[in-house]
Amino acid sequence: MRKFGLIGYPLGHSFSAKYFSEKFRRASMEDCIYSNFEIPSIAHLPEILKDPELRGLNVTIPYKESVIAYLQEKDPVVQETGACNCIRIDQGKLTGYNTDVKGFEESLDEKLTAGDKRALILGTGGSSKAVAWVLHKKGIDFLFVSRKKSGAPNQITYEDLGQEIMKTHELIINSTPLGMAPKTGVCPPIPYEYIGAGHYLFDLVYNPAKTLFLEKGAAAGARIKNGADMLAIQAEASWAIWNAGSAE
Ligand SMILES: NC(=O)c1ccc[n+]([C@@H]2O[C@H](COP(=O)([O-])OP(=O)(O)OC[C@H]3O[C@@H](n4cnc5c(N)ncnc54)[C@H](OP(=O)(O)O)[C@@H]3O)[C@@H](O)[C@H]2O)c1
Repeated sequence: MRKFGLIGYPLGHSFSAKYFSEKFRRASMEDCIYSNFEIPSIAHLPEILKDPELRGLNVTIPYKESVIAYLQEKDPVVQETGACNCIRIDQGKLTGYNTDVKGFEESLDEKLTAGDKRALILGTGGSSKAVAWVLHKKGIDFLFVSRKKSGAPNQITYEDLGQEIMKTHELIINSTPLGMAPKTGVCPPIPYEYIGAGHYLFDLVYNPAKTLFLEKGAAAGARIKNGADMLAIQAEASWAIWNAGSAE
């Protein structure tokens, strides 16, 4: 049996378990299984790793950063972002990767234009690091928008968002959980009245498909994109990493 899984807490309705179980069923991969490991502390990881058939793990909230202490090797993206969402297990050796980066970059590209030169990243959690890494790579200037004042030169608060900043930062990425089901009636507290046809609103949230954030963007004529493609791309990138060097 080839075993894969997801560590996080809480896991609730995990996309990954459903995605991989359907993938295995469609391809008649009866020797593969994907399980949820809902662990209340990262200290439980060594127990999970005792299974010699475990080949790979995805990592989600809140362990993308704390899991790094358990890795023997990290790819350069994990080293630079400080966040890992994919682990390959090879004869007991754990190598960490960040496939959120690939997922975000490829799905962002679909509607990105040459005019998207400045961005606002809403939220400063684990996923905002992957977003920032991609924007930096693409040469797009960005500001983090947080509930907290930090003093960092590239971080502002929601209260700082006036017409000028909104006008000059046409790419806005929601990397907060605001708007995610079941609390679909909320959205990041930005001044939506300054959003127009030149804006591109990208939401990492994928459930619902059109969050209130995206609805408000669409109503103003902005380009919009949700996190569903990002999720599928990062899952397939994880699968490729786990199976690299094998016949699959
Ligand atoms: N589509 C995908 O493939 C994909 C991949 C990764 C994540 N996601 C989704 O992206 C979202 C964020 O993920 P994450 O791992 O970065 O989550 P997280 O670490 O729990 O939160 C991200 C940040 O959101 C801000 N935030 C949290 N609660 C808030 C609230 N009530 N009001 C305003 N801001 C709030 C916080 O930033 P401040 O404290 O600085 O305000 C927090 O650090 C989740 O919904 C997750 O499901 C999607």
